[in-house]
Amino acid sequence: MLRQFVLAALLASACRAKTAKDTMSDDEEKRFTKCQPTDKTIFDFKVETLTGEVRNLTEFRGKVLLIVNVATYCGYTEQYNDFNQLMERNDGVQLLAFPCNQFHLQEPGHNDEILNGLKHVRPGKNWEPSKNVHIYGKLEVNGENEHPMYKFLKSTCPPTSEKIGERHKLMYDPIKTTDIVWNFEKFLIDRHGRPRVRFFPGTWKGGKRVEKHFKPLLEETADKN
Ligand SMILES: *[C@@H]1O[C@H](CO)[C@@H](O)[C@H](O)[C@H]1NC(C)=O
Repeated sequence: MLRQFVLAALLASACRAKTAKDTMSDDEEKRFTKCQPTDKTIFDFKVETLTGEVRNLTEFRGKVLLIVNVATYCGYTEQYNDFNQLMERNDGVQLLAFPCNQFHLQEPGHNDEILNGLKHVRPGKNWEPSKNVHIYGKLEVNGENEHPMYKFLKSTCPPTSEKIGERHKLMYDPIKTTDIVWNFEKFLIDRHGRPRVRFFPGTWKGGKRVEKHFKPLLEETADKN
């Protein structure tokens, strides 16, 4: 009961407050689930770049990937400040960010405006992605027009929360039990393109809560299967 209440409070305030830290219990900072085995991989899907090119993700074969649905005007946007350093200290890992406007319209810009928003507004202070941080074009993670890659991720990795959120802040239909609950959920993908771990948006702590899952995947060889 208490947990549900705290989570509801978190979802309500996470992206209005400057930081969600104060409203979060320790338990909610540590939420993750292990994904199911699957024959499909992340390389089976096509995504769009910020400039509108259609690409597959095969260029990242052999790397460990952290996939994050992002938004510029969210409390969790502060996590961007950790992205570059997290990738710099973890050779072999790449971060792929997918902007999404489905949570309280917190990613309202066009694709060609997103980098400017990050650089000058939030997190601001001239923030730019480093070479192992890749920001793709906007997509939908939930609802009728959910991107096939997100449909795959959600069907392979169980949700990390039983509560999706408040109806008026979820800008899509229909709402499903496996939905991404907010901006900055994360999926960790192994060297073979298979999803392995799903993280709650607030499971972060400067990246450390996610980072400790990198090592076992980095130790797996790229050609084992
Ligand atoms: C992925 O993209 C590369 C480069 O554009 C292309 O050569 C390859 O055939 C594509 N693979 C799939 C599975 O679509």
